[in-house]
Amino acid sequence: MSVVKINALTVPAEMRAALEQRFAGRAGMVEQADGFEWFELLRPIEGTDTYLVYTRWRSEEDFQKWQSSQAFEEGHRRAAAEAAANAPADGAGHSGPGHSGPGHPGGHGGAGAPAASGATLWSFEVVQSAAPGSD
Ligand code: HEM
Repeated sequence: MSVVKINALTVPAEMRAALEQRFAGRAGMVEQADGFEWFELLRPIEGTDTYLVYTRWRSEEDFQKWQSSQAFEEGHRRAAAEAAANAPADGAGHSGPGHSGPGHPGGHGGAGAPAASGATLWSFEVVQSAAPGSD
């Protein structure tokens, strides 16, 4: 049974463009991960200001493996560097790029501020799904 992992990002209005640019230049590593099925960056239009990073995986194990992999770290290198530079020690980024290794000197996006000011991971099991013509 597939699982859906959604990272809900709090993004200040003035950082939206920066966030979307970061994703436009994302590492593209997740595509190679075993058990990876789908990714979407969802921009909020109405009802919420929260950006959603939607991912779907063949299994919980596949997601866990990716999350503890080099590929995950690589896909979040800049986010980790910025978080280390800016966030309080146990700030919002609990389950995310938690490595406090040496950051990249020099900043992308704004004055080196992280594009997201908070992140929360949601987990779901896919109970039903449909696609066009798949009945
Ligand atoms: C503190 C937590 C997190 C923050 C602030 C965060 C933020 C970001 C940002 C800004 C990027 C764009 C790449 C970059 O700028 O380096 C990114 C990439 C990505 N994030 Fe996160 N993220 C976090 C944790 C997670 C988690 C738990 C997931 C699981 C659903 C996830 C899924 C992804 C995916 C799939 C990409 C694209 C990576 C690739 O192309 O290989 N993120 N994230």
